[in-house]
Amino acid sequence: MNSEQHYRAFYITTGWTLGLLLLGSVVHATGSSLACPDWPTCFGTMVPEMTGGVFWEHLHRLVAGGLVLIFMAATYMAWKPEARRPAIRRWALAGIVLLLVQSLFGGLTVLMQLPDAISTTHLALAFLFLALVTALTVVTSPGWSGGSGAGGHLPGLRTLAVSGAVLTFLQSVLGAAVRHMDAGLVCPDVPLCLGQWIPPLQTATVAVHFGHRVTGILLLITLLTLAVRAARSLGPSAARILAISAGVLVTLQVLLGFLSVYTRLAVVPVSLHTLLAASILSVTVGVAVMTWAPGEGSGAASEPADPEVVRHEEVPHGEVPHGG
Ligand code: HEM
Ligand code: HEM
Repeated sequence: MNSEQHYRAFYITTGWTLGLLLLGSVVHATGSSLACPDWPTCFGTMVPEMTGGVFWEHLHRLVAGGLVLIFMAATYMAWKPEARRPAIRRWALAGIVLLLVQSLFGGLTVLMQLPDAISTTHLALAFLFLALVTALTVVTSPGWSGGSGAGGHLPGLRTLAVSGAVLTFLQSVLGAAVRHMDAGLVCPDVPLCLGQWIPPLQTATVAVHFGHRVTGILLLITLLTLAVRAARSLGPSAARILAISAGVLVTLQVLLGFLSVYTRLAVVPVSLHTLLAASILSVTVGVAVMTWAPGEGSGAASEPADPEVVRHEEVPHGEVPHGG
């Protein structure tokens, strides 16, 4: 196997995971979560009649099974070519463990009849896995040579990318709490909440819902700043494209959040809201990994792999690249 092949396998796994996350969200939004009352079988069989809620729930399980197989295959393909990078092998193995635990949590959501904490954890583990497989895709990509190093020269950009990724994850877990606490419509109005900019935070559901809106705006500001900074300071590169995409996606995401409330949690906007959250996580993790500068303290090169990556003349004040 050459490295190109296992990169492709991780790339496909990332796309597959995004599809599975969308499907999981549809399972909940269509009220199909308990359509199969048992686990791992559905009505005692692996081939139930695919009608009504069983269609979504069992399809989600089958696609989840496919993900485990594809990711195991990608890990197998990466094993030999990555012999000199043991960290990649370790993270791929961690991914397999994470997927198995996640499947167990999927089963628990059914067997325990959807406790809020288990359902929310199911989403959190799904997003963690997505972050992991995205990072594996970036570091196994053919042109990868230990990062562009742009973050080492532009620490502000790296900090923004990492904060954006962490904030997206936390915001998504908060969103899952909103969903599973049935707090999606406790503020039935947008953009106000109960007719006020800051509603009375008397109940946990209003606090969680309002917190999700506030963190959403914070994330919007963070990722728009990242997009503008990257557009101004990076030359043509994947990192630049992804950072700008993060700004576009987060703007659409806020609109979809409002639309979810406005349509009283219609299946299409809430399911797209989950998909977009996952896409933003993938994109910000990608930028964070690409702008990481492993040169500092790790002995790897700290110069940009591509001298075009940093356009020196456009580096913002206070972020002067070394030797620029
Ligand atoms: C066979 C294993 C699995 C089973 C039985 C299962 C089952 C379920 C069920 C019943 C739901 C609806 C939960 C609810 O309404 O509270 C759900 C949602 C979901 N699943 Fe799975 N799942 C499995 C594997 C996976 C895997 C491997 C992933 C991703 C890596 C995943 C990602 C999701 C996501 C993102 C949701 C939406 C969560 C939310 O709405 O907050 N699932 N799953
Ligand atoms: C800007 C970044 C945002 C991100 C990353 C984000 C992410 C999420 C996620 C991942 C969920 C859980 C979906 C699931 O469990 O499958 C969610 C739920 C939700 N979000 Fe957001 N969200 C954002 C902004 C907003 C905004 C500004 C609003 C405005 C009202 C909003 C309204 C909602 C609502 C109502 C739910 C619950 C949906 C339901 O009950 O099914 N979100 N969000």
